[in-house]
Amino acid sequence: MTVVTDTALETFRARADALVAGHPVVTDNAYTRWFARGVATREEVRHLAVQFSVFSHLFIEAQLRKVINASSLDAYRSGKEILLNELGVVFRADHGHSTVDGGRFRFGAAHFEWLLRFGGPLGLGFDDLGKRKYGTPSTLHFCDELLRVYGSEDPSIAEGASYAVEHWAAAGFWKELIAGLQAFKARECPDLPLAFWTWHDEVEDDHAAHTADELADAFDVPGFDGERFLRGAEEMLDGVQVFWDGLERDRPRRGS
Ligand SMILES: [Fe+2]
Repeated sequence: MTVVTDTALETFRARADALVAGHPVVTDNAYTRWFARGVATREEVRHLAVQFSVFSHLFIEAQLRKVINASSLDAYRSGKEILLNELGVVFRADHGHSTVDGGRFRFGAAHFEWLLRFGGPLGLGFDDLGKRKYGTPSTLHFCDELLRVYGSEDPSIAEGASYAVEHWAAAGFWKELIAGLQAFKARECPDLPLAFWTWHDEVEDDHAAHTADELADAFDVPGFDGERFLRGAEEMLDGVQVFWDGLERDRPRRGS
């Protein structure tokens, strides 16, 4: 029985992985590929900072919705790890894994405050970052899809979206942005702190491992629907793609 179940899980995992690995936002992200070349101007870096801050800040709303809609206490707690860390509770090591349980809250550890420190040398302050009103239509479409799909009440759809987001994030876009930012920093902005970007890159592999366990857990939940999981994954990746395609279209010197 167990053998049959494991085979079904592995077959399904292979389908989910193929969907993520083959999606254009993973295989062909024109914006991050360009950004990695390090030729972005100050204005282009500022635009990225503002749009990323809107997504990153509004992501907290989607994460809270995911926690509220969690289908089990375990899922509720996993969601809270991400939510509270996002808000400024520092992870601490506990028997080989990281947790916010017993961790310490610091205002300055909120990911949004890291972005504020990043924005400073670019001339961006609290009044320039993180609010819905600063988002372009494509950024806001992505944020709304996060609420709708990632925060879905349907656990199969929500888990699919989670799986997609974590695997997309682990697939390399942080490294491409970091490469471009390092070049920009070296060229004209020596005081630019890159901690927001490098920290996220480092934890990404951890996150993706979490989500692999989540897939196994979700698969065992009565009522789990593989087709809805895959739909959630695909719709979420389509939303992510709208965000990056928007940034690509906003580049004034496209083609360079
Ligand atoms: Fe974050």
